[in-house]
This record gives sequence, C-alpha cells and structure tokens, in this order.
Amino acid sequence: MNKDLILDNVTKSFFQGGKQQKVLDGINLKFSPGKWYTIYGVSGSGKTTLLNTIGGIETPDTGYLYFNGSSIYDLPDRKISRWRNRSIGFVFQFFHLIGELNVRQNILLPCRVRGYSPDYNWIARITRVLSIDSLLGRSPATLSGGEMQRTALARALVNKPSFILADEPTGNLDSGNSAKIIKLLEELKEESGAGIILATHERELIETGDEIFEITDGKIKSSKKGE
Ligand SMILES: Nc1ncnc2c1ncn2[C@@H]1O[C@H](COP(=O)(O)OP(=O)(O)O)[C@@H](O)[C@H]1O
Ligand SMILES: [Mg+2]
Repeated sequence: MNKDLILDNVTKSFFQGGKQQKVLDGINLKFSPGKWYTIYGVSGSGKTTLLNTIGGIETPDTGYLYFNGSSIYDLPDRKISRWRNRSIGFVFQFFHLIGELNVRQNILLPCRVRGYSPDYNWIARITRVLSIDSLLGRSPATLSGGEMQRTALARALVNKPSFILADEPTGNLDSGNSAKIIKLLEELKEESGAGIILATHERELIETGDEIFEITDGKIKSSKKGE
C-alpha cells in the first residue's frame, strides 16, 4: 500500500498589520514511511506552519495534502481528526505533556482519543527503548527535560503512526539530551518503520536524516547531505 504523504502545490498566507505574508509559496514535497526528512529554516521561516499543514492541523489556502491517495483536506473534519490520530505522531519543542496525568496516562492519551485498546506489548517495548519504563507512575513535573521529551516520543508512537512530525524537538534540551533524542528517533524509525519529519533551526542537525530541505521565503530548497 502506498502510504506516502504528498504536498501538492501548497500555499498559505497570513495577514499581519494589514499586510499579506506568504508563508508557504507553492510547496511540493513527498514523504515516505521509513525515511528521515530534516527541514531546516531560520525562526519565522514557516517550519511550524509547514508541519501543521502536513499533519492535518492547518488547512492550506490552495493545494493538496494526499495520504494513501486521498486528499486529506477534502475530508470532513471528523475524518481528518481520525486520520491524524491514526497516522501522525506529533512531538513538540515544549513537550506538551498534561500535568494532571502521570507518564503512563500521557503516553496512552492518543489511544483514548482513538477509542482503541492500546497494544501493551508495543508500549512496553517503546518505553524500554526510551528508558522511561521505570517512570510510568510519575508526574511530568518531576521529570527532567530529556525524560519529558522521551515521554512525548512514546506518546507520539503509541498508535504506531506512519509518520512522526517533530517540531524543534531538541530546542529545549542540552546537547547531551538532544543527541540522545536524535539517536532514539533513529532507533524508533527502524523499530516502527515510521517516517520522521523533523523541523529545526539548529544548523548542527542539518547532517541528520536521509533528505534535507531548507525552507526560505516560503519555498523549499533541497540540499544533499554534507553540502
Ligand atoms: N496563526 C498565525 N497568524 C498570523 N501569522 C502567523 C500565524 N502563524 C504563523 N504566522 C507567521 O508566519 C510566519 C511563519 O511562522 P512559523 O511557521 O511559526 O515559522 P517557524 O516555525 O519557522 O518559526 C511568521 O512570520 C509568523 O509570525
Ligand atoms: Mg516553529
């Protein structure tokens, strides 16, 4: 089955101070499961807008998002949410864990939304790989930054999504924890077969991934590794 994600001529503008700003200007991209894509761009270049469009959160002004051959934004909202919950795992810079829930409950959240019974063998495996299996009863407030982000990674993976969208996932971590998250994402990609789409403004991460894109002036520049 073709589980590629395709952006077809996507545009998106915002109005600010009465002026129109074209944040995405005719974006064409194709993402396949099992591959790692790094999107580099300076702050304000449109990375978050792009990831939100890829993840079914931000409707483009024009253009299409295709998954498995269907045009996602032509679906009713209810079906877009269901697709997102099943196919996409999000990881954010500020982790976005829910303070009132413990680590286990945070990880299980996407299963609740989906209304499916969790795969406990899978959860045991990913929490072991992420070294958070001993933290499941803890409150997020008692965790280190690295532990919080590893919990967020487990939550992103719990439904075995086809793609993980990571928006500056190392932006709030020290370099040791940052390197650890990148290594874990690589392992999780191998383990789950998910595609990784990582957005970052950190130049050090440009070497990471199978394909590297730079977003600038609303357009994508493709660059080969090491250039
Ligand atoms: N909801 C919004 N309303 C108005 N402007 C927005 C909105 N979201 C993003 N922008 C603007 O679009 C540009 C790109 O933002 P963003 O996608 O967050 O970039 P990045 O993630 O690369 O920092 C910025 O100039 C930002 O101010
Ligand atoms: Mg951003």
